[in-house]
Amino acid sequence: MDFTFISVFSTTTATAYLSSAAVLFLFIIIIIIIINKRRPSKSPSPAVVNRILSGTTGWPFIGETLDFISSAYTDRPQSFIDKRRLLYGKVFKSHLFGSPTIVSTDAEVSRIVLQSDANSFVPSYPKSLTELMGESSILRINGSLHRRIHGLIGSFFKSPYLKAQVTCDMRKLVLQSMATWREDRPVYIQDETKHIAFQVLAKALIGLDPGEDMEFLKIHFQNFTAGLMSLPVKLPGTQLHRSLQAKKKMVKLVMKIISNKRIHGVARSQDHPKDVADVLLNDKSEKLTDELVSDNMIDLMIPGDDSVPLLITLAIKYLSDCPKALHQLKEENLVVKRLKTDLGGVMCWDDYLSLPFTQNVITETLRLGNIIMGVIRKAMKDVEIKGYLIPKGWCVLTHFRSVHLDDNHHESPHQFNPWRWQNRDMNNGSSSCFTPFGGGLRLCPGLDLARLEASIFLHHFVTEFRWVADDDTIINFPTVRMKNRMPVCVKRENYRGPNLPLIAKRQEEGFRNNDVQISVKSGKVIDDEEDEENLQP
Ligand code: HEM
Repeated sequence: MDFTFISVFSTTTATAYLSSAAVLFLFIIIIIIIINKRRPSKSPSPAVVNRILSGTTGWPFIGETLDFISSAYTDRPQSFIDKRRLLYGKVFKSHLFGSPTIVSTDAEVSRIVLQSDANSFVPSYPKSLTELMGESSILRINGSLHRRIHGLIGSFFKSPYLKAQVTCDMRKLVLQSMATWREDRPVYIQDETKHIAFQVLAKALIGLDPGEDMEFLKIHFQNFTAGLMSLPVKLPGTQLHRSLQAKKKMVKLVMKIISNKRIHGVARSQDHPKDVADVLLNDKSEKLTDELVSDNMIDLMIPGDDSVPLLITLAIKYLSDCPKALHQLKEENLVVKRLKTDLGGVMCWDDYLSLPFTQNVITETLRLGNIIMGVIRKAMKDVEIKGYLIPKGWCVLTHFRSVHLDDNHHESPHQFNPWRWQNRDMNNGSSSCFTPFGGGLRLCPGLDLARLEASIFLHHFVTEFRWVADDDTIINFPTVRMKNRMPVCVKRENYRGPNLPLIAKRQEEGFRNNDVQISVKSGKVIDDEEDEENLQP
């Protein structure tokens, strides 16, 4: 079975499905057997096998899948990989989820795999997922159509209009949600952030505001994601069938929204497209039909839905365990908050993203949390990388987590240490030893959005509340999530009004009144437009 670790299994899915590990194991074995029976053998010729790396492919059919999963469920999810890395080296062979697989824990090998085009490697997903995504999903297509759609989405997520709109929407939703919190009952950070992030995503993708349609979409999206990791059987009564029905209903709603856009005139680029659907509908290429656009709107929610809430939730978990970092984060955000409030400005996208320590906290959370532990590609031909042979038809698991937790790249890698990023320019995930957003042609187009959402939530949370976190543990499989949804007891902070001496001091240091700009790289105030340009990733 083809498989990728991108965040395809929502927390809801996980909760619904993983009531018992045994049930999951059984499912996986059945899936693997079905798939192995259905497809022709892709085993390479004996001559090729001899040149393949060391490692073991485990049991017939199931390979080493059960070992992999059982270690992923423990509090040492790295143990499966660490053990083999010691025995066989940084790149080794295995057999996972129904496919012979090369596991790469080598940053350079993984970088080359990610940078390769579709002639060498293509994404690989479970069968249930490919059924649900449809053939023209951005997550599945390759070549020029993929580059076109990826480019359009990426540039929209960088557009000033989107930045202003998302900042405003996100702040409104965060404040609305926080206004309902009570001091006498726990707040479940994972649920709160999930609710907010879904609404931000629906607005950014199809311009949907909170209301009946949003609720409709949310309910059916949950049913849809429940099938992403199900048995690949479409018969009525099966989960996959239910999920396909849910997708049909969502696509119908999105088609209605698209027809409305067509009737009332799609917002053209010169008047700022208002959402991703506008951008794709404006495209002159005849290939982007309304059906393709509406299908993709749903598929785009898959990687965006769970990842951002988890990023925020994990940041709060790590900060709860590291008072020194929390103190510094709070200080940094309070200074800007006071400046903005007292001098009459509102925080904009660049303000949020330019707080250096806040960005370091987010970067460190991405490194340590490994929300996406790695991605899987399938070799389209025999490929040799750094002397390692990856035979045609085999999968490669580029295991980001191993690189992020490798002490050759990151000192004391299991420690939450946001200060490690102080003098390193890796905030956008472009280095080969820090790839939380992947790389190459499929580099996550939502990375700015993810950082922004996390920055806004953290800003309001740390400046408006004190909290005590209940005990909770991080689960790493099938998705990263908190076992108890991260309950915290909150207490509202009394905002102490302007801290005039501090503001005067900061102004002396160079803050501007209405447009506080601090370089992510240097932590210094940005003075000219050219520097400001450099802030845009
Ligand atoms: C913390 C948050 C996030 C993380 C860690 C993350 C991580 C990733 C990774 C690792 C990939 C590469 C997958 C591959 O190479 O096969 C990816 C792709 C993608 N991400 Fe994100 N992502 C996040 C948030 C978002 C958001 C908010 C969106 C918004 C819609 C988004 C949209 C996408 C899309 C559309 C792709 C597929 C790109 C392609 O195949 O061309 N992601 N993401």
